[in-house]
Amino acid sequence: MAEPRDARDVFRAPYGTRDVLAPESDRWQELVARFADRARRFGYGLVLTPIFEHAEVFHRVGETTDVVSKEMYEFEDRGGRRLALRPEGTASVVRAFVQNHPPVPWKCWYLAPNFRAERPQKGRYRQHYQVGAEVLGVDDPDVDVEVIALLCGFLRDLGLSRTRLLLNSMGDPDSRARHREVLLDYLRSHADLLGDESARAELNPLRILDSKRPDWQQLLEDAPQLGEYLSAETAEHFERVQAGLRALEIPFELAPRLVRGFDYYTRTTFELQSDTIDAAQNALGGGGRYDRLAEEMGGPPTPSIGFAAGIERILLACDAEAVLPAPAARVDVFVIDLMGTSDATVLLNELRDRGLAADRAYGGRSVKKQWSAADKAGAAFGVMLAPAETAAGKVAVKDLASGEQVEVARADVAAWLLARSGAGARSARE
Ligand code: HAM
Repeated sequence: MAEPRDARDVFRAPYGTRDVLAPESDRWQELVARFADRARRFGYGLVLTPIFEHAEVFHRVGETTDVVSKEMYEFEDRGGRRLALRPEGTASVVRAFVQNHPPVPWKCWYLAPNFRAERPQKGRYRQHYQVGAEVLGVDDPDVDVEVIALLCGFLRDLGLSRTRLLLNSMGDPDSRARHREVLLDYLRSHADLLGDESARAELNPLRILDSKRPDWQQLLEDAPQLGEYLSAETAEHFERVQAGLRALEIPFELAPRLVRGFDYYTRTTFELQSDTIDAAQNALGGGGRYDRLAEEMGGPPTPSIGFAAGIERILLACDAEAVLPAPAARVDVFVIDLMGTSDATVLLNELRDRGLAADRAYGGRSVKKQWSAADKAGAAFGVMLAPAETAAGKVAVKDLASGEQVEVARADVAAWLLARSGAGARSARE
């Protein structure tokens, strides 16, 4: 991927974005359908929010968050309003909660594109898609376990096994404040090693803990851990989350240095990483509690938790583990037209209305080319409309697997095909 250099590059997807065409998009459909179905079974309803918001909505996510301070697509609209393309979904969902005050617990899921002006590389794009789920208005640790189980079950059912669940508690504001002081003292005493990053450490010392810089690893290893400063209540909440995960036999690793990229997190945080992707992009999904965010947007106290998972990254992990192949395109019937009238259009419309996947070739192609198009489409049956059969009120139907051919009354052909196709079997079951 490169920045546009000449006019031809302008008619290409912008730097860091991609088109997704079938059959790759068939995998997306499959993945989203599975997520939607799982979310439904867990009692979550779909929420749709605008892809842009007043920029302030995201500034609430945290000024020391790179996603907001460095990577956000922020602009002024024609009316002079300060807007931003959504860099993540949680702030929008919380804004929608505060605005619409649905009854709590409010359990919702979403599928949405997000925009971050990051340096693009494999698994990191300027527009990426997330599926996510949020529960607003519940403090119970059982709900922490529920959302983690939703994410883990979704990835497991896709066939992914080389994943690790990392779990941490970011503490409540009091424990965070106590820890922050000790950590700042510690980092200040190592200012020589931190160099230019000392200023960043002053703003958000926790973020330094997450650094992957090899020359800092010992420093970070020895740093005071937030876990030692948790209040009794937060520590108990965290214990109960762990007990719930153990009860569900969901393996996890405690990761005291897991610092997720948003300032809104409190208490439980987690990340699902894949061992098959480079460390910088190995997070398939992540989330945590954000108990204060609704209040910061003018809403009532609303303890909440959720997660989001990146579709592109999940598909990269699926490629690496050779799972979730593109589902085979299924065509039940291919219509071969030797009439050149509207008969083929009428027949196709009828078949499709009755629930069959039906297709054709266009533009008066030779009969040979039409049969080979039927083969290419992987059709189960070919239905031929020819003058002699049409005059007798019939069509010729060929089973493309066996080569067997029969004549069927034109009036009965849809029912005949339905009885013999996957769609027929499906509608009989329903
Ligand atoms: P996040 O960790 O920033 O969290 O993003 C969630 C997932 O989106 C990541 O784990 C990754 O799979 C994917 N992702 C993020 N950035 C990119 C990118 N540039 N290119 C491709 N994939 C990407 C959030 O967004 C929080 N809103 C999660 C959350 C929900 N926390 C509480 N509720």
